[in-house]
Amino acid sequence: MPREIAISRIFSLTLCAVIACGGSDSGPTVPAEKTCQQDPSQSKCVTTPPVTTMLRSLAAAKSRSFGVAVDATFFGTNPAAYDTVVAHEFNMIVAGNVMKWSSIHRDGRYQYRWTNPDAMVAFAQANGMKVRGHTLAWYQQNPAWLTSTTWNPETLKVVLKEHVDSVVGHYKGKVAAWDIVNEAINDGSGTLRTTGSPWATTIGPSYIDLAFKEARAADPATQLFYNDYNLEFPGVKQDSAFAMISGMKARGVPIDGIGFQSHFQVNADGTGVPSKDVLVATFNRFAALGLKIHITELDIRVRTPGATSAELSAQTQGFSNVVSACLAVSACEAIVVWGLNDGESWIPGTFPGYGQALLFDDSFGKKATYNAVSAALGGS
Ligand code: XIL
Repeated sequence: MPREIAISRIFSLTLCAVIACGGSDSGPTVPAEKTCQQDPSQSKCVTTPPVTTMLRSLAAAKSRSFGVAVDATFFGTNPAAYDTVVAHEFNMIVAGNVMKWSSIHRDGRYQYRWTNPDAMVAFAQANGMKVRGHTLAWYQQNPAWLTSTTWNPETLKVVLKEHVDSVVGHYKGKVAAWDIVNEAINDGSGTLRTTGSPWATTIGPSYIDLAFKEARAADPATQLFYNDYNLEFPGVKQDSAFAMISGMKARGVPIDGIGFQSHFQVNADGTGVPSKDVLVATFNRFAALGLKIHITELDIRVRTPGATSAELSAQTQGFSNVVSACLAVSACEAIVVWGLNDGESWIPGTFPGYGQALLFDDSFGKKATYNAVSAALGGS
């Protein structure tokens, strides 16, 4: 077992002795300090505010999950700083990368890398967190053995089914919801995204139904989601997703929910962040199809350096809008932020000149964005 995984496992048990574990988020307010005194044998006892002030407790009190995406570069490598905050604040976890094809199925058709995702799932179980699985069919982050082979529709269908069976089956009973298909729709035109996608180019649009059906068979209890970005505002892409999912429903394809990635950008002219009303209308539109709503990859980026105070306040307002909109729609059951702190965020690398998109700074300090989320969840 790699050293960092071993540390992660040991730490998850220690941490669990310090905070309320096992999924009980909404119990009485017990200051963690007192819990530590009750168990002085815990050498890594962490002093924290009362548990009911944590985002996970506030969310649980509203029957919601509040989650975070973690990256293997950070998760498990510095448990005292990183994993502690993850377990204290969140009751849902998702792998930023290690459940994607390019990681979990990197080495060859019959070889899987379970170590890192298994450690994350074990950590979630030890700390009373739900798991979101991400993702099973995407046009990005596919392994070379897959993209460099010439498949025909029938052989590639078999490969996709094998992957879904293996991965969903491996985590059967342990993953609350899976992003089955990710980003299948083009921006602008709203047509099927084919560029870079072995699935769409070789199999065609039927790969989507196939992946959902196979996932249902592999784990009948997990919730099956379509996940995409730029669906939050009304427009062609949202209409296209609505038509696609309506068609799936009409064909009897099993789909339980839609994930709104919610990667927002504060623009200088004040646009970019949806209002609560726009989000509520969007969520209600899809909830009317019988779908659960998850906000799956929330971050709100601002210009760096030099965001103005108006831009920063638009950012905090944006977090507040998202949380309030989710609380206003009963089908909206989870909100997940895409990374714990600004230092690990994918934003600066992908959107140069932008960043500071999350709830914690690089030293794990709570930002104004954290306070906005906490207040929107009903905290002080
Ligand atoms: C990102 C990860 O955060 C990065 O570490 C990685 O280099 C690229 O992918 N939409 C998605 C996520 O569905 O999987 C992406 O995650 C961000 C955009």
